[in-house]
Amino acid sequence: MKVRILFFLLLCLSVRLGVRGQRPCLLPMPRSVEWGRGTFRTDRPFAVVNGAGREGEPLLRFFAGDAVREGAARRVEIYRREVGPSPEAYRLDIGPDTLRVYAAGRLGLLRAAQTLAQLRGRKGLACVRVDDAPEMAWRGLMIDVSRHFFPLTFLERQIDLMARCKLNRLQLHLTDAAGWRMEIKRYPLLTQVGAWRTEASWKTWWNEGGRRYASPRTPGAYGGYYTQEELRRLVAYAEARGVTVVPEIEMPAHSEEVLTAYPELSCTHEPYRQADFCPGNEETFVFLENVLREVMEVFPSVYIHLGGDEAGKASWRECPLCRAKAQELGLDSTDGLQDYLMARMGGYLAQHGRQMAGWDEAASTQLPAGAVITVWRGRDEAARAVGAGQQVVLCPGSHCYLDFYQDAPPSQPEAIGGFTPASKVYAFDPAGFLPDSLAHGLLGVQGNLWTEYVATPSHAEYMLYPRAWALAEVGWTGRRRGTWTDFRRRAVDYARQLRREVELEAFDLRGERGERPEALHAVEHLGRGAAVTYALPYHPRYAAAGDAALTDGLRGGWSHGDGRWQGFIRGRRLDVTLDLGRVVEVRSVACDFLQSVGAEIYFPSSFRVSLSADGETFTEVHNAPFLPHSDPRPAVRTEQWKSRPRRARYVRVEATPDARGGWVFADEVVVR
Ligand code: ACM
Ligand code: ZN
Repeated sequence: MKVRILFFLLLCLSVRLGVRGQRPCLLPMPRSVEWGRGTFRTDRPFAVVNGAGREGEPLLRFFAGDAVREGAARRVEIYRREVGPSPEAYRLDIGPDTLRVYAAGRLGLLRAAQTLAQLRGRKGLACVRVDDAPEMAWRGLMIDVSRHFFPLTFLERQIDLMARCKLNRLQLHLTDAAGWRMEIKRYPLLTQVGAWRTEASWKTWWNEGGRRYASPRTPGAYGGYYTQEELRRLVAYAEARGVTVVPEIEMPAHSEEVLTAYPELSCTHEPYRQADFCPGNEETFVFLENVLREVMEVFPSVYIHLGGDEAGKASWRECPLCRAKAQELGLDSTDGLQDYLMARMGGYLAQHGRQMAGWDEAASTQLPAGAVITVWRGRDEAARAVGAGQQVVLCPGSHCYLDFYQDAPPSQPEAIGGFTPASKVYAFDPAGFLPDSLAHGLLGVQGNLWTEYVATPSHAEYMLYPRAWALAEVGWTGRRRGTWTDFRRRAVDYARQLRREVELEAFDLRGERGERPEALHAVEHLGRGAAVTYALPYHPRYAAAGDAALTDGLRGGWSHGDGRWQGFIRGRRLDVTLDLGRVVEVRSVACDFLQSVGAEIYFPSSFRVSLSADGETFTEVHNAPFLPHSDPRPAVRTEQWKSRPRRARYVRVEATPDARGGWVFADEVVVR
């Protein structure tokens, strides 16, 4: 008997857990969720009472396939009512007999429909009360369609996937050296010359292929572009789902394709020579205005992104037109022409009722009011932009670059470098990125998918998800968000659901390997805390913990930018001497090196260890060549000298750079 009661109790418990386990997966998590009991059955008759007119259409569409019957006693009621400070705010009140939706207008009703879609089960909608609104107005994805070209159907699918998780801005990186992707009627060579290249793989084209453009009829030519008609269709598709497409046209740099099609717009007038427009030439502005006029005709977005990143500006220094322009403007140097160009083009957009967006190099006090800066570098750049009067969308490389490895590189397809697992994206704290005094400047967050190493739609989706979901929740919930453990559980559920519904092949968090194990705990050794003398300095950008970096017990992980690896650039040997404080017995000396080919970080060609008791006379105990490592994915190798004990106080470690130059990245010198 007792056994039977116990069995019954266990059965009850498992049924309860089962019910809870079957709760719909909400992502992003709404501001407030109060679960009720039961289901609003959509397979039994109900009436829809739409008090929101045309704005209620997303909900009418949502219920279109259900048992809607005019006059039925059970009702869906749609109300147009202010429920929060954001136009995306909405409220749902779902009981077994009545389902009420409230929002101020179409956007809020759309977001409500997106939550209803997540609540839908086999028979209907779980009873619940949801009060919801986003913390941040701009929750974006940027997709680079220049480095590799993606079909329109892929972009439509991403808009669907974005809308499901309430991402609302799609920045399209339409132009770059690797290909111009938008039809411009006035300048047909942009696509005739600039949309096709000689190699399909960006990596081959960039590194070995000579970076040549081609005709679409050239055998093996790779490329493509969107017609204005296609882009209009895309904009309408996105608009219907509450997503704004923000086009990006790069200037003054990243424009090799333009300056090969129209070389007269560069400083030297030679094709294949320049990446930067000539800002000293009025024709440049005529061209850019004409292009932007067509861009504005196609894209109704208030924001038009003008790029602005990574201008080399070298040709400006030698160019008579640029020098004369800088002098006329009273600038100290031709470098200041970047601010002039961005402000002038931002002003052109403002005259047409639009606002400019730009990467953080474009920030300046000269920009027209209302400009938005997408901050891809760091906190200083974010603060500088807000200080200059701009609003910022944060997409720093540290947390928001979705082209970086999302798991241990040896287990992943080749990527550009870095290491940004979904948990790191989820840990991004936008509010903490700016000082409190500049908090008013925070507009939102964005994930950037650059596609140098991403050639196919399925690979792009693998890189985007689940990290884009993590970012969607960061932007929607801000500091209200819950734990990674809870998000991870929902993301796994959500991935399972989307695999079933739309065959999405997201990265599988269940098989995640994670950070390099050695980086997860400190290492004790004889050299920990030892003073280090540098015969040659490390680079300030990759100083890590400065003079303490190599002996602080903390080892670098998969990312060269994780603040632990110390970088030595361009032919600089690693040449350091540790002072252990007193003569001790030394049996081994090891050092970790990182190779990350995409970042031009290579394993050194040799590793040398010398010991000394007095700091004057050193005895070389180890000098071995590094075996080459041809896998392009980041790898860490520990080089080591090991032998019978030797008495020493000073340990000298040297590493010679690879013949390709680039960087040497080293961390912890472990002495035992
Ligand atoms: C960028 O990554 N150059 C914006
Ligand atoms: Zn010039």
